[in-house]
Formats: sequence, structure tokens, C-alpha cells
Amino acid sequence: MPLLSMPPLSVNLIIIIFLFIVSSPTSHGADNENYTTCHQKKYDCGGQIKGIGYPFWGEDRPPFCGVQGFELTCYGNESTTIVIQNQTFHVLRINQSANNMTIARADLWDNLCPVELSDTTLNFTLFDFGPHPHVLNLTLLYGCVPNASYDHIEARGHFQCPEVAGNQSSSNINFFVEDLYDSYIPEWECKSRIRVPVFQEGLYAFWGDDHMTVEELVKQGFEADYHETDKFLACDSCNYSGGECGTDTTTNQVICFCHNGPQSYMCPGPGVYLLFFPQLFH
Ligand SMILES: *[C@@H]1O[C@H](CO)[C@@H](O)[C@H](O)[C@H]1NC(C)=O
Ligand SMILES: *[C@@H]1O[C@H](CO)[C@@H](O)[C@H](O)[C@H]1NC(C)=O
Ligand SMILES: *[C@@H]1O[C@H](CO)[C@@H](O)[C@H](O)[C@H]1NC(C)=O
Ligand SMILES: *[C@@H]1O[C@H](CO)[C@@H](O)[C@H](O)[C@H]1NC(C)=O
Ligand SMILES: *[C@@H]1O[C@H](CO)[C@@H](O)[C@H](O)[C@H]1NC(C)=O
Ligand SMILES: *[C@@H]1O[C@H](CO)[C@@H](O)[C@H](O)[C@H]1NC(C)=O
Ligand SMILES: *[C@@H]1O[C@H](CO)[C@@H](O)[C@H](O)[C@H]1NC(C)=O
Ligand SMILES: *[C@@H]1O[C@H](CO)[C@@H](O)[C@H](O)[C@H]1NC(C)=O
Ligand SMILES: *[C@@H]1O[C@H](CO)[C@@H](O)[C@H](O)[C@H]1NC(C)=O
Ligand SMILES: *[C@@H]1O[C@H](CO)[C@@H](O)[C@H](O)[C@H]1NC(C)=O
Repeated sequence: MPLLSMPPLSVNLIIIIFLFIVSSPTSHGADNENYTTCHQKKYDCGGQIKGIGYPFWGEDRPPFCGVQGFELTCYGNESTTIVIQNQTFHVLRINQSANNMTIARADLWDNLCPVELSDTTLNFTLFDFGPHPHVLNLTLLYGCVPNASYDHIEARGHFQCPEVAGNQSSSNINFFVEDLYDSYIPEWECKSRIRVPVFQEGLYAFWGDDHMTVEELVKQGFEADYHETDKFLACDSCNYSGGECGTDTTTNQVICFCHNGPQSYMCPGPGVYLLFFPQLFH
């Protein structure tokens, strides 16, 4: 029988049996402790962000309960930040079942004119921008020469820089456009430009509400997805088998903390097969 005609059911079964066989205890002693730690010490910060588990860690939740690059920091039991590629973001929401979060650039929080202007970047081995056009880029343009054509059209998209951001002669203007249009504005007309993702919904709200400012639009943030990489797939089987996912901090590999000790993939026991039955036979 050619492999391609194999029903997906038996492929699943083989993978699960394989994982079960290769899951052998790696060591014993002081093990429950790690399971208990990762199980109990979720990341909590204020009313919005709480009960956050793998792949996140930070504050009371130790690094071995999460993945490198997912460290959260809590300020005054109120606001959470994450650092991605040297850029600090405010974390506004995390949806653990969808593996996504809403983040907003900390350097543009309440002030669209930071001293150092930079594009928004993510570490694409760990994160991705939310799907287009749900998430889209704005281009913020700074220090542009007045030009009647866009001065008029983009009147609502203008924003002011406080005096601190260099010597801004009043004849220079700042405004945003959707990045589709940014190539229509010649290089020489503006001193700098940066890209900032926002929710399309937020942009619609902005155009529909005369009182909403560009600052407020950017503060709503954008969706970032964290990938379904091997680490998360491996983590699913661990979680279903009753374990707590973590990282072996010496090898940087996924590890499954079980009640009776760490395993490489999932926790052993007849419960594993029972837990998988509903998935296999629905
Ligand atoms: C942090 O804030 C939350 C919600 O505002 C509150 O329930 C919790 O008790 C606070 N924790 C600490 C340690 O103050
Ligand atoms: C991050 O910051 C370090 C030191 O400040 C610098 O060497 C590095 O190039 C920066 N990386 C990125 C991606 O900006
Ligand atoms: C991106 O994430 C990967 C995986 O954690 C890490 O190895 C790499 O150093 C990160 N890249 C940057 C530029 O931070
Ligand atoms: C989280 O994502 C799931 C879908 O993956 C969705 O059903 C749920 O409404 C989301 N929760 C929030 C608070 O957005
Ligand atoms: C995560 O994805 C779900 C489903 O696609 C979406 O409804 C939700 O708004 C997203 N959540 C965040 C925090 O961006
Ligand atoms: C937005 O710009 C970033 C670069 O800053 C790019 O990586 C990303 O793909 C762009 N997103 C869309 C939807 O065009
Ligand atoms: C700001 O720039 C204007 C001309 O562009 C110049 O006349 C003025 O002296 C500058 N002010 C300061 C404080 O540098
Ligand atoms: C104004 O902008 C338009 C479109 O980019 C360009 O064609 C025109 O030359 C500009 N005019 C001036 C006075 O800079
Ligand atoms: C692990 O399983 C529990 C239910 O048993 C679920 O609530 C939780 O979201 C799962 N966590 C991950 C990271 O899949
Ligand atoms: C288990 O916890 C101990 C102490 O908290 C820690 O030193 C060790 O690295 C953890 N084990 C693994 C495999 O991460």
C-alpha cells in the first residue's frame, strides 16, 4: 500500500506510539519540584494579564518553565512588557488558546517622536505579525516639506512632535499614511519614516471618530502570533499527557515535567492512550 493512501488516523497513531516509546525517563529526584513550580507559578500582572504559562516566563516564573525570548516583565503590578529584538513592547493582551498577543511599542507610547526612530521588527523565528489586513502597517513620516497635495488629503493624519524631538521648524509636518501609499511620497520630502503595525479595526475607528488621535491609534497596538514551531507541537503532547512543558536550560531543548520526573516528550501511563482516544476517533 503506497504511503500516501494511508489514512491520517494510522499516521497519528504511529507518531503517538513512537513518541510514547521514545519517552523514557531521563533522570530522577527533585523532579516533582519542577513540575509543581511550572504548574503553580504562572505569570500574573494586574487585572489583564494573568495565569500565563508556557512559553512565557518572568518574575516568579523561572526560565525553565518557558522559552528563551518569551520573558515578561511586570511594572507595579500594572503593565507588562516584552523585549523583542531590542525593542520594548507593552503587552496588552495574551490569548493562550490562539497563541497570539496584542503588543504596542513602548517607545511610541504617548509620544510618536522618540529620539531614535526605528521600524517595528519582530524575531521571526518566534513571532509573526497578525494576518493581513487584520493587521496593517502605517508609515509615519517626519519632518516633511509642506506639500499642498498631501497637506490637504491627510489633514487628520497629522501629528505634532513635542519640542524635545530636535529643532522642528513649524513649516515641517509629520503625518501617517497606510504603507501602500508611502512610495508616493518622494524620499526627499521627509526627513525620516518608520513603519508601525496597527489593527485595521483601529484605523477604521480612527477615521470614524474625529476625537481619536494618532497616538491613541498606535497605543491600541497590533496582534503578534507566536509560531506553532516544533517546540509548541512537542508541548501539546506533554500537556495532554498531564505534564508541564519547559526548557532544559542546559541543552535548550523542550522538556516535559511530569509528576514522577522529567521526560523528553510526554508523561508515561495508560492515561496517555485514553486521553488521545477522543482525538483519534472523532
Ligand atoms: C495585582 O493586581 C491584581 C488586580 O488588580 C490584584 O488582584 C492582585 O492582588 C495584585 N497583586 C499584588 C501582589 O498586589
Ligand atoms: C541590539 O542591541 C545590541 C547592543 O545594544 C546591538 O549590538 C544589536 O545590534 C542590537 N540588535 C538589533 C536587532 O537591533
Ligand atoms: C531570535 O530567536 C531565536 C530563538 O530564541 C534566537 O536564537 C535568536 O538569537 C533571536 N534573534 C535575535 C536577533 O534576537
Ligand atoms: C482567543 O482565541 C480563541 C480562538 O483561538 C477565541 O475563540 C477567543 O474568543 C479568543 N479570546 C479572546 C479573549 O479574544
Ligand atoms: C488572537 O486570535 C483570535 C482568533 O484569530 C482573535 O480573535 C483575537 O483577536 C487575537 N487576540 C489577540 C490578543 O490579538
Ligand atoms: C509591515 O512592515 C514590516 C517591516 O517593518 C514587514 O515585515 C511586514 O511584513 C509588514 N506587514 C504588512 C502587512 O505589510
Ligand atoms: C531652529 O532652526 C531654525 C531654522 O531652521 C533656526 O533659525 C533656529 O535658530 C533653530 N533653533 C534652535 C534652538 O536651534
Ligand atoms: C507634492 O507631492 C506630489 C506627490 O508626491 C508631487 O508630485 C509634487 O511634486 C509635490 N510638490 C511639491 C511642491 O513638492
Ligand atoms: C494544557 O491543557 C489544559 C487543559 O488540560 C489547557 O487548559 C491549557 O490551555 C493547555 N496548555 C497549553 C499550553 O496547551
Ligand atoms: C529544576 O529545578 C531546579 C531548581 O529550581 C533547577 O535548577 C533545574 O534546572 C530544573 N531542571 C530542569 C531540567 O530545568
